[in-house]
Amino acid sequence: MNKTVLVTGASSGIGEAVCRVLCTEGCRVIGTSRDTARLQPLVDELGENFLPLTLDVEDAAAVAALPANLPPDFAAIDVLVNNAGHDTGGRQAFEDSDADQMCGVVETNVNGVIRTTHALIGGMLERGGGHVVNIGSTAGLRPFATMSAYVASKYAVHGFSESLRLEYAGRGIRVSEILPGLVRTGFAERRLGDAQQAANFYDAHDISLQPRDVAETVLFALRQPKHVEIAQLLVVPVS
Ligand SMILES: NC(=O)c1ccc[n+]([C@@H]2O[C@H](COP(=O)([O-])OP(=O)(O)OC[C@H]3O[C@@H](n4cnc5c(N)ncnc54)[C@H](OP(=O)(O)O)[C@@H]3O)[C@@H](O)[C@H]2O)c1
Repeated sequence: MNKTVLVTGASSGIGEAVCRVLCTEGCRVIGTSRDTARLQPLVDELGENFLPLTLDVEDAAAVAALPANLPPDFAAIDVLVNNAGHDTGGRQAFEDSDADQMCGVVETNVNGVIRTTHALIGGMLERGGGHVVNIGSTAGLRPFATMSAYVASKYAVHGFSESLRLEYAGRGIRVSEILPGLVRTGFAERRLGDAQQAANFYDAHDISLQPRDVAETVLFALRQPKHVEIAQLLVVPVS
């Protein structure tokens, strides 16, 4: 697949797996992290078709400057995978949660997606097409108590994806939303702040998805012929 792809949040979990799967398919892949050192294992594994890039999707100036700062071989981005995201707190009561941290979830998961898409879509339009793939969540379709900020962020990603698809219909830009259920990644450790608690959380579920399972759905969306747009893919572990 001869495409140039930018994946946010490539240092772990789903983003890392998307980089691996797409590079293996022959894409040139830019993977971002707030700390490029965390991308070194992918650099070692994937070679010259993988470009590590430092990016905090909360940094408005850095995101806006992104297209101007890409090396020529990676500058014409065909596909943006908006994957960077997190949650905070770990099933804490709303009143006991930190308001700034909850707003930080929205800043990354929603504003980060809007900013990164806005920075790259102009180039896609100039080149006559592109594909935006947003990693949403089942939490974008149904509520969970004690996860209100995260759920709000994923409902927003859902509404953003749907609206963007309508806006660019017929203009060469496809928009796909992937909505995974539970995936075993670094997500729970970031949410809970503790590796053992995170392992216990995943172990308490009989089955969870692996990051590669989600990466394969991204590949499926990208593989479709030009007249086919994968609007949404809901992917959950067998229950
Ligand atoms: N795990 C699940 O069960 C699950 C289910 C449904 C949806 N999702 C969604 O899948 C996406 C990926 O999560 P994951 O499960 O793979 O979690 P993960 O293993 O914790 O990876 C999250 C990635 O996001 C990046 N990130 C976080 N904040 C960032 C910021 N401000 N700027 C740039 N990058 C940032 C991290 O990179 P750095 O820290 O290196 O910057 C990391 O690479 C998220 O959008 C999540 O909501 C996860």
